[in-house]
Amino acid sequence: MRVVIIFLLSALLPLSLSHGRGRDPFAWLYGGRGQGYYFASLQADTAGGDCPAECDCPPTFPVAMYCDGRGLTAMPSIPSRMKYLYLQNNAITAVPDSAMVNATNLVWLMMHHNQLTSDAIGKKAFLKMENLERLYLQHNNLTIIPSNLPRSLRDLRISGNKIEKVTVGDVEGMDNLTILYLHDNAITDMGASLKALVSLTLLDISGNKLTKVPEALPTHLHQLYMESNSIDSLPENFLGGFSQLQYVRMAHNQLTDKGIPPNTFNVTGLVELDLSFNKLERIPLVSTTLQHLYLQANQIKEFSLGSFCSIVDISNFSKLRTLRLDGNELSRQDIPMESSLCLRVAHEIEV
Ligand SMILES: *[C@@H]1O[C@H](CO)[C@@H](O)[C@H](O)[C@H]1NC(C)=O
Ligand SMILES: *[C@@H]1O[C@H](CO)[C@@H](O)[C@H](O)[C@H]1NC(C)=O
Ligand SMILES: *[C@@H]1O[C@H](CO)[C@@H](O)[C@H](O)[C@H]1NC(C)=O
Ligand SMILES: *[C@@H]1O[C@H](CO)[C@@H](O)[C@H](O)[C@H]1NC(C)=O
Ligand SMILES: *[C@@H]1O[C@H](CO)[C@@H](O)[C@H](O)[C@H]1NC(C)=O
Repeated sequence: MRVVIIFLLSALLPLSLSHGRGRDPFAWLYGGRGQGYYFASLQADTAGGDCPAECDCPPTFPVAMYCDGRGLTAMPSIPSRMKYLYLQNNAITAVPDSAMVNATNLVWLMMHHNQLTSDAIGKKAFLKMENLERLYLQHNNLTIIPSNLPRSLRDLRISGNKIEKVTVGDVEGMDNLTILYLHDNAITDMGASLKALVSLTLLDISGNKLTKVPEALPTHLHQLYMESNSIDSLPENFLGGFSQLQYVRMAHNQLTDKGIPPNTFNVTGLVELDLSFNKLERIPLVSTTLQHLYLQANQIKEFSLGSFCSIVDISNFSKLRTLRLDGNELSRQDIPMESSLCLRVAHEIEV
């Protein structure tokens, strides 16, 4: 009974909107020896007897198959009733088309931490999974996004691979894709490949080799993470095209004052802006509605109050709560007295 309760609960939870990698609210559910696995392994398969010997198929949840962390090097056979398949933390090297012929009802397919290479994934391996919503392929050896991924995907995680390029065809038509993790790959350019992802709210392309912001990003993003690339400048009106963007993280890039057009960050709606570990010498002008600004480890020499407030009165003041300026060329004395009027809700200013 416990297993059923756990899964029903997860079905009721909204899609993950966690603000950073590694804080996935579902981690406990599919993590190596999570509770689901534990209870599942106590029970033998009684739902048809077609559970492969190397996996567990809990009778109380007959549409889930647990094969994670068992040293598998090849795909097990998959009974067609399965909707949730856990294959993570193995050493599986290939997904031939033939291995997936029965897997047409899958909704979740967890294959992170295996040894998959792009050459060893069949061109049609995923083609028939018309209901697949979550596909986890993190930490494999992929060099491209597998072809013919189901357009039904809502959550695609393919970080920690060796992907160099993303093309329009890779994700075209994924109208329901909400989360896309591409971080820690070797992407140098992605053109306008993501433009058509009308439902995308979280994009993580940190830890790649980008030298510029991808052109034409999806306009409904809430979270845009581009840390640890080599971006040195931003396009004109870079943030103007988004309607719901709240979190922008660009730490550990090569941004200079010259590379940031004036007013780039003077946009309402933004809650958090992380520009730490760049090469800025001035505090960029930000909207008075911004709440968290990270500028530590730049080369800022001057505390320009005008970057936060142009007018200060009873209703015009900055909503900044966190301001980090440590690791710059500033000290406490550089903060003018009148700052307290402008930055009146800041409870944390670090210099
Ligand atoms: C597909 O299902 C059939 C019938 O249940 C079974 O005999 C076969 O082994 C399965 N194939 C794979 C690759 O899982
Ligand atoms: C995958 O990459 C790892 C680390 O780069 C390497 O040790 C391993 O041999 C690769 N596996 C395959 C199947 O290519
Ligand atoms: C997106 O989700 C809706 C509602 O669940 C569904 O009707 C539609 O077919 C899905 N789109 C794709 C491309 O799968
Ligand atoms: C910042 O944006 C606000 C609202 O759009 C505008 O009123 C203000 O003039 C802008 N600040 C500067 C310095 O351009
Ligand atoms: C800021 O002050 C001006 C002039 O006093 C006023 O017209 C404007 O409404 C104020 N803006 C905000 C956002 O409160």
